[in-house]
Amino acid sequence: MAEPAPNMPVWRIALGGNNRQSQPVETIALTYLQGHARFNGRIRQQFSRNKSVPLASHHQLGIQMKLQNKVAIVTGAATGIGQAIAIRFAREGASVVIDYVGNSSAADQTMNEIKSFGGKSIALAADVSKPDQVQNLIDSTVKAFGRLDIVVNNAGIETKHAFVDFPFDEMQKILAVNLIGPFLVSQAAARQMIKQGDGGRLINISSVHEDLPMPTNAPYCASKGGLRMLARTIAVELAKDKITVNNIGPGAVYTPIDADIQANPELEKALMAEIPLSRWGKPEEIAGLATYLASDEAGYVTGSTYFIDGGMMRQSGSL
Ligand code: BGC
Repeated sequence: MAEPAPNMPVWRIALGGNNRQSQPVETIALTYLQGHARFNGRIRQQFSRNKSVPLASHHQLGIQMKLQNKVAIVTGAATGIGQAIAIRFAREGASVVIDYVGNSSAADQTMNEIKSFGGKSIALAADVSKPDQVQNLIDSTVKAFGRLDIVVNNAGIETKHAFVDFPFDEMQKILAVNLIGPFLVSQAAARQMIKQGDGGRLINISSVHEDLPMPTNAPYCASKGGLRMLARTIAVELAKDKITVNNIGPGAVYTPIDADIQANPELEKALMAEIPLSRWGKPEEIAGLATYLASDEAGYVTGSTYFIDGGMMRQSGSL
């Protein structure tokens, strides 16, 4: 079918397994209503009474897929923020590679959730701090989905100790996963995107701690501070290739990384006192920002960090 004129109201949707097909809006609205009819008898009745469906734009239909036909890798996507991003990207029409390390069951769960709404994803095991595993992650993505448009460097770890007692091996591991990982994945991904020739998106899940000190968390803070300058530097280098690079800096988001705080009411109270909005962030809220940065709408956004922290970065202590 020929491409429609830009102002013609159409909706791109997966039909018969071919999601690159454009359909006139009547057909799509029909499909949309039929889908909903299963859940809503009223719509089904109205629909069978009146077979004509009014013309409607994407907005009027209330649906907008921001990442249609894009291919995305999300590292550390089996749980937490990465999982929420993988699911949201798939809902927005992207084919998603769920990178994980270790036990595959959480990654499988994420994949099954994506399958449940007709989304496309595969799970691949790759330790982001190992160059050969990273290259395999990129190659397997391209083999499965034909290209690569978006990378979210989300995999991250933290353990807390007083600086003077910090074990050497733990410090090395944190820097390897949180900083060397995004370096390696971004490098391999950028090479692939440059080969494709039509740009791309690199998004790092950093932290408020790329800027805010956190006692007992020196390697983690150092890794996030490193991510800040990695993003700024490669954003400048990759701009000529239309690859944008941005960081998301979450504050306290309710995920397993903060299980110690969630299990300790006093610590949790102290943390909430640092947050003007006085609550945990939700992984889905981070996924919303990641979706924007990954989308075509963000084509002019590069080289910055976007904090999403309930105001934590602006907390002025006792004042
Ligand atoms: C850390 C959490 C911390 C939060 C706010 C995050 O980057 O992973 O441990 O609670 O920042 O301080």
